[in-house]
Amino acid sequence: MPRLLVVHHTPSPALQAVLEAVREGVAMVDDVELTVRPALSAGPADLLAADGVLLGTPANIGYMSGALKHFFDTVYYPCLDATVGLKYGVYVHGNDDTAGALTSIAKITGALRWKQVAAPLSITGPADLEAVRELAATVAVSL
Ligand SMILES: Cc1cc2nc3c(=O)[nH]c(=O)nc-3n(C[C@H](O)[C@H](O)[C@H](O)COP(=O)(O)O)c2cc1C
Repeated sequence: MPRLLVVHHTPSPALQAVLEAVREGVAMVDDVELTVRPALSAGPADLLAADGVLLGTPANIGYMSGALKHFFDTVYYPCLDATVGLKYGVYVHGNDDTAGALTSIAKITGALRWKQVAAPLSITGPADLEAVRELAATVAVSL
């Protein structure tokens, strides 16, 4: 069964609602094994066991969260060769400007040579949870 890893930083109720919508979206797809890991605790073993990854973070000062950056710093060299072509999707939640966060993530996933399988989801204002479910389902279906 294909395995989807969700690596997320979830520091508020709004982001918790988004994470729950991710679970719901994945549950709409048959035969996908879901593993959910906070970005501060995820590591190379989690990534190497996955067929795809969904990244989730708040925008913080024009960048991804420090927690998601820590995840990338942790996995970059251990996974550099082994995860070429890894399927991924991403959501960023912010007050009004997620562009810097999305760009920073695209730079690192590009260097890792991962394959984006869903359009990046930028969430500002009240979260469109249906769009979150759709993102999660799209990534899950691609595996
Ligand atoms: C230190 C800090 C920096 C932030 N920087 C940004 C930012 O650059 N762009 C943005 O849209 N939101 C920014 N935010 C807002 C967070 O992304 C937002 O608080 C987070 O997604 C959680 O959403 P909530 O506050 O609605 O629960 C920042 C928040 C904090 C605490």
